[in-house]
Amino acid sequence: MRIGVLTSGGDCPGLNAVIRSVVHRAVVDHGDEVIGFRDGWKGLLDGDYLKLDLDAVAGILARGGTILGSSRVRPEHLRDGVERARGHVADLGLDAIIPIGGEGTLKAARLLSDNGLPIVGVPKTIDNDIAATDVTFGFDTAVTVATEALDRLKTTAESHQRVLIVEVMGRHTGWIALHSGTAAGAHAVVVPERPFDIEELAAQVGARFSAGKRFAIVVAAEGAKPRPGTMRFDEGGTDVYGHERFAGIARQLSLELERRLGKEARPVILGHVQRGGTPTPYDRVLATRFGWHAVEAAHRGEFGRMTALRGTEIVTVPLADAVERLKTVPAQRFAEAQCVL
Ligand code: F6P
Repeated sequence: MRIGVLTSGGDCPGLNAVIRSVVHRAVVDHGDEVIGFRDGWKGLLDGDYLKLDLDAVAGILARGGTILGSSRVRPEHLRDGVERARGHVADLGLDAIIPIGGEGTLKAARLLSDNGLPIVGVPKTIDNDIAATDVTFGFDTAVTVATEALDRLKTTAESHQRVLIVEVMGRHTGWIALHSGTAAGAHAVVVPERPFDIEELAAQVGARFSAGKRFAIVVAAEGAKPRPGTMRFDEGGTDVYGHERFAGIARQLSLELERRLGKEARPVILGHVQRGGTPTPYDRVLATRFGWHAVEAAHRGEFGRMTALRGTEIVTVPLADAVERLKTVPAQRFAEAQCVL
């Protein structure tokens, strides 16, 4: 078999572990040839690729980022490029394409699959918001980084009797905020799924100080918003890919909480540090399993599907399911966390 691999969308710890696993399983166990397209779908559209043999993937298991490079592509650009992609797949004699990516990438994968290309997707995102899989690799690393940062921030917040509002990634969902906030014992968490009431939030944080505590940590997912009309809030518009831009929930909340509580407040934005660097062992294992199973699915001719974790097993599910809905934080999970925050 000839297999093409690509990584697309925001990078994520564990991408290299998938690439390595695909190459090992395909080359060593099946005698396949593997190529990697550079910079995501762009590489497929431009026919820009490199050969991936065992030497090419040596030593990359623990390396963050992606040796193939990544990029975002506008949906209309991809739609216009279907015939070009088909041409490159035919010229290169590819029997399967394994795109590794998040929601946008999997939507693109579905488009190409619907147009007859042999696709087996692998889901990735630090946000953990793809409903068709229990977990995505990258999430555990992001939660670990955020938790370590929160642990550190507590000591400086206490020294200065401050409120620190720590902004973590999560554009549509608050999984990283909920898990890191719970793991680090934060004092409030705000997530996109539940627009917050600023009065309630200020009361929750203020009650801590009234009880004699000297600092507070609030974790805010970047996509969190106040209930409409309850506080001044700047929205950031959208970027060229149609993604919402954020105007800084941590900055806006710190100004508002400082004004309401009369306590010094500071915003801390963790940003891309959450997805840079080496993946945790959990993410390395999940990514390696996804790569192995993607190759197997390709050999079984299971195209138009993607790998998914269900319980402890890896299965494949239709790409259509993968992009149907986001996995949001259920009210129950949020409620469970509230009593320990
Ligand atoms: O979707 C993954 C993600 O890391 C989000 O959590 C974040 O909002 C976004 O990517 C950031 O994207 P970019 O690197 O393009 O700014």
